[in-house]
Amino acid sequence: MKILVVDDTPTNIDILFQTLEPEGCTLSVATNGEDALKLVPEIQPDLILLDIMMPGIDGFETCRRLKENSLTRNIPVVFLTAKNQTEDIVKGFSMGGVDYITKPFRHQEVCARINKHLELHKLRNELAEKNQSLLELVDTKNKLLGMASHDLRNPLTSIQGYSAFLLKKGNTLNEETRTDFTKIINTASGNMLTLVNDLLNLSVIESGQLSLNLNSGSLGSLIEERVHLYQYLAREKEIELKVTTQDTSELLFDEARIGQVLDNLLTNAIKFSPAGSVIDISSTTYNGCVRVSVKDEGPGIKNEELEKLFQPFEKLSSKATGGETGTGLGLAIAKKMIELHQGVLKVESSPGRGAKFSFELPINPSTFDP
Ligand SMILES: Nc1ncnc2c1ncn2[C@@H]1O[C@H](COP(=O)(O)OP(=O)(O)OP(=O)(O)O)[C@@H](O)[C@H]1O
Ligand SMILES: [Mg+2]
Repeated sequence: MKILVVDDTPTNIDILFQTLEPEGCTLSVATNGEDALKLVPEIQPDLILLDIMMPGIDGFETCRRLKENSLTRNIPVVFLTAKNQTEDIVKGFSMGGVDYITKPFRHQEVCARINKHLELHKLRNELAEKNQSLLELVDTKNKLLGMASHDLRNPLTSIQGYSAFLLKKGNTLNEETRTDFTKIINTASGNMLTLVNDLLNLSVIESGQLSLNLNSGSLGSLIEERVHLYQYLAREKEIELKVTTQDTSELLFDEARIGQVLDNLLTNAIKFSPAGSVIDISSTTYNGCVRVSVKDEGPGIKNEELEKLFQPFEKLSSKATGGETGTGLGLAIAKKMIELHQGVLKVESSPGRGAKFSFELPINPSTFDP
């Protein structure tokens, strides 16, 4: 425990050292208010013992200024002073002090009070942290509900509507229309299935229960295979997919999971690329890692949006060039999948000049404990 003693009388400081050091406290000293105000943000003590009558600004004013500064506001201040009038004690509390001890003090009492305040301070910090994570949870829940009402309800509505047409007694739909309706139902339910699988994926990863099915191999053929899968989609949008796979390094990876990451990076690049542009897909060995990059010539990502990019349900301002949709789950999942492989997923982007997403997987990971 770090305690800052602010007092201008050497004998008082000595007594506090004798009282508190045997209790395991580390003490720092300031002999006036101005020095204390400079020192506190720097050393961030767990608690401040503050005298009131000192040369320069007094203890009340020192406390008031500490409470004004966001860097020092939450550090508990205990007044330790010879001023023992009721109005002084009341003023001490109103300036933000958590306790007020008058001199001459009893050693054991000072120690007991300090311990109690340190304990309360720790509990308060824990509460604030829990509160913050609850707020984040509520935010995710709201986004999930928003997504469910939009991305799950829309396909369900069309499944319901088109199947009702097909089931209607005495309908006069010809064979071609029946096939069209069935295709719509099939696509809509496929989209829903992808979404539900993504949600399950994310929740399994977040609960720490996703285990990787690791096999040794090189990424080259997986990249070729996945790119081949999207050639048709890209050609439809007049986009060229260019592959340069230079690495032959063998490494351990889960083919299905890394395939999923590639799928999302490729579909994103195709989704946001304009007609006539090129998407470069490359893999190289670098610094003990295999680095795979997908670089497009689309709108890129605005600097102010970068921090949202890998968060679930976040869709940014970039517009899909072919009216494609998405839920904003792909990159959140991809990042976690790569991290499970002890790798990193990064983005480089200069807005207006394309985005480059790269992941690096270690060739010899230290341990694999997925
Ligand atoms: N290559 C890219 N160029 C520009 N913006 C991109 C690119 N890749 C992703 N983004 C932005 O990041 C957002 C999040 O991407 P992510 O893959 O997580 O979600 P999505 O593609 O919208 O939906 P999903 O992948 O769940 O189907 C996208 O909506 C888009 O705004
Ligand atoms: Mg995506």
